[in-house]
Amino acid sequence: MSLDYNIFCFNVESIPELEVINELAAAKGKIANISFRINPNVGAHTHANITTGLAENKFGISMQDMGHVIEVALEMKNVKFIGLHFHIGSQILDMGDFVALCNRVNELQDKLEAHRIRIEHINVGGGLGIDYKHPNRQAIPDFKDYFSTYAEHLKLRSYQTLHFELGRAITGQCGSLISQVLYVKQGANKKFAILDAGMTDLIRPALYQAYHKIENITSEDAVEAYDVVGPICESSDVFGKAIDLNKVKRGDLIALRSAGAYGEIMASSYNCRELPQGYTSDELV
Ligand SMILES: Cc1ncc(COP(=O)(O)O)c(C=O)c1O
Repeated sequence: MSLDYNIFCFNVESIPELEVINELAAAKGKIANISFRINPNVGAHTHANITTGLAENKFGISMQDMGHVIEVALEMKNVKFIGLHFHIGSQILDMGDFVALCNRVNELQDKLEAHRIRIEHINVGGGLGIDYKHPNRQAIPDFKDYFSTYAEHLKLRSYQTLHFELGRAITGQCGSLISQVLYVKQGANKKFAILDAGMTDLIRPALYQAYHKIENITSEDAVEAYDVVGPICESSDVFGKAIDLNKVKRGDLIALRSAGAYGEIMASSYNCRELPQGYTSDELV
């Protein structure tokens, strides 16, 4: 059995995580395979809160520290350095961002190769975005465009394995948050549709001002505009403002689309609320 670790982020002076892994592996008489998460300092055209690959972001080992960290790992007897890992952000729709990552990985690989350092595994993370505005129009993202970008721009060596960690692109369009209207409130100058679901069930709109398509799946009455909000005592507990919905009444079912990624998994019991229940469509029939 091998021990596999992805070293994420540490203090480069002493590298305690690496020492601990080396000691634990030695104690078990094993060699631990390790990869390093590198911060490639590559930006992504996405929301600032879901960009992860810039030097200003907390993730990964900086490029300037990378050489030293790898050298230390190569000196250790019970760790085997096998891979480099990157992830520049999420909900990325501009293939140019992935091209920039490929170019950076190529640069790093050339430098390491000049020092005769061979890497078996390259992991480029995930990040491919989905169409939140039109979840039905292109439910399956353009994987061909995504993978051919890497095929064209990444200079993979013949002995290397390339890994992807796509999340949202695979599951994002597979789930909806179905919620019931508690109350329709007439405000001073707009109507609020108050749902029984709130930011504790789907936090993306409150956290990143993210857009989710909202549909009234009960009513076929003429369209009206509503601020669609949750029942939690927070002004950020809002799913969408001035949303056109078929006329809403108490008890209507409201679907918040594209909630299959970063939905239930980011739910919390803030305000002592219960966690949402996930069901497959078969279970609902
Ligand atoms: C290291 C890493 N890889 C992959 C992913 C998946 O990203 P996405 O859902 O954008 O494909 C994430 C998401 O946070 C991540 O942190």
